[in-house]
Amino acid sequence: MPNLINSSAVEITNENVLSTHNYNNWNCDYLTDYIIQTHHEYVKNAILQIKALTSEVVDSYGATHSELAIIQSLFKQISNEMLLHLKKEELVLFPYIKKLNQAKSDLTHVDRPGFGSVKVPARVMETEHETAGIMMQRLSKLSSNYTPPRDASDTFRVLYEKLKEFDDDLHVHVHLENDILHPKAIALEELILAS
Ligand SMILES: [Fe+2]
Ligand SMILES: [Fe+2]
Repeated sequence: MPNLINSSAVEITNENVLSTHNYNNWNCDYLTDYIIQTHHEYVKNAILQIKALTSEVVDSYGATHSELAIIQSLFKQISNEMLLHLKKEELVLFPYIKKLNQAKSDLTHVDRPGFGSVKVPARVMETEHETAGIMMQRLSKLSSNYTPPRDASDTFRVLYEKLKEFDDDLHVHVHLENDILHPKAIALEELILAS
């Protein structure tokens, strides 16, 4: 298991994508911490880096590569929506999941939340994942699957590498939440609320 305190995964690398962790064995508390400290941190840092690279590349190549302005505005939209999405997870969904996990360890009771069930915010998050995925598919198409043109500078190439990395990280991040965390949290809630 990774060291969450000194995790190097917060660096902007594709380490997340190459991960071979057996996430299914992790409890909900550990999973939420891991997702925040690796994927959420990665997204926040990568957005700043990609926006700076995009501005530089649009300045140099915008006149000859019209797709760049569309990529810039699409990425801005993706960033805004993702930052809001991360906030909802960090402030609403994940704290509730951690509370359920704590109740399981302490054998205590948890009152039904104001949103009724963990299924409700989980479903909202899954819809937002789908929207982000669709926007990234559009971005991938616009950049010919992140293939830089022949006349691309090093900065241009780095931009497409970073966008590809962002896309790959999103797939792992969404898989962890949709397929592992949410089903585990739903099962945990059924157990706790029934007790
Ligand atoms: Fe997330
Ligand atoms: Fe999410």
